[in-house]
Formats: sequence, structure tokens, C-alpha cells
Amino acid sequence: MGLNVELLEHSFELVAPKGEALVDVFYNHLFEDYPAVRPLFEDVDMQDQRSRLLASLVLVVANLRAPEELAPALELLGQRHTKYGAIEVHYPAVGATLVKSLAEIAGEHWNDELEQAWSDAYDEISAIMLSGTAVVSAT
Ligand code: HEM
Repeated sequence: MGLNVELLEHSFELVAPKGEALVDVFYNHLFEDYPAVRPLFEDVDMQDQRSRLLASLVLVVANLRAPEELAPALELLGQRHTKYGAIEVHYPAVGATLVKSLAEIAGEHWNDELEQAWSDAYDEISAIMLSGTAVVSAT
């Protein structure tokens, strides 16, 4: 992956101590900006979901230096998301919400370079997740 790993790791260190706030802001924006995804989370325990989102972000950032280890797990994650009702158009919505929320929480530390690095990372991650769903529909 041609990702700016150091920049991502560094910026994650900035927001990680504010993880709870990040997750709150993320879901508030997601449901407000994209009400169409609300039904997907209807029967989901949001308390669990909040900690899972953060855990998966930590996992992804921790594994950026070993993408070959990350890819199979992301493909499986993508396959599970098909069962959750996630479709391709939802991915950019979640990505835009993530970047917007990170920017809000990072505050004055945020800049265009970080915005680009996180968008690129999210795009790569979602592409791998979606490639996992193609495998499912082909078999
Ligand atoms: C890079 C993108 C994404 C990542 C890393 C991610 C990560 C996760 C993780 C780790 C879980 C916990 C359950 C599991 O491991 O299977 C989860 C659950 C969930 N995700 Fe995502 N997700 C992403 C994108 C999306 C998108 C685009 C949607 C669609 C709106 C979505 C909707 C959901 C829902 C509804 C659940 C709850 C499933 C349940 O407990 O019933 N996710 N996600």
C-alpha cells in the first residue's frame, strides 16, 4: 500500500486519547448526514458498536506496516458487512464521515495532508473489504 504510514500513525496518536468523543461525533454525523444507513444499525447494540469501531481503527492503524497480514482479515470483514446490509455506496459515506470526524477531533492539528492520507487509507481499506464481497457473489 502506498500509504503515508508515519503520518497516519502520528495523527492517530493525536486523536486516540479522545477516542470516545471521536466515536460519538462519528455516529452523530453519520446518522445526520446519511439517514439512509440508520436502519442498518437499528438492532445493533450501539454501546458495543462504539467500542468496535474504535477497536477496528486501532487494528487497522497498527497493521498498516504489514498490509499483507491485514488483507485477508479485511476481506472477511467485507463479507460480514454484506450480511449487515452494507452496500458499495455506503462506503464513501462512512469514509467521508470518518474524515470529517477525525478533522473535528484533531482540531488545530488537522491539515490537508492529513485529510489526504486518511482518505487514501480509507479508500484502500474499503477497496479490500469490497473485493472480499466480490469473492462471495462469484461463488
Ligand atoms: C473501512 C470501512 C469499515 C470498517 C473498518 C468497519 C468495521 C466494522 C467492524 C470491525 C464491525 C464489528 C463487527 C465485525 O467485525 O464483523 C462492524 C460492524 C458493522 N458495520 Fe462496519 N466497517 C466499515 C464500513 C461500514 C459501512 C460502509 C457500513 C454501512 C453503513 C457499515 C455498517 C456496519 C454495521 C451495520 C455493523 C454492525 C453489525 C452488527 O453488529 O449487527 N460498516 N464494522
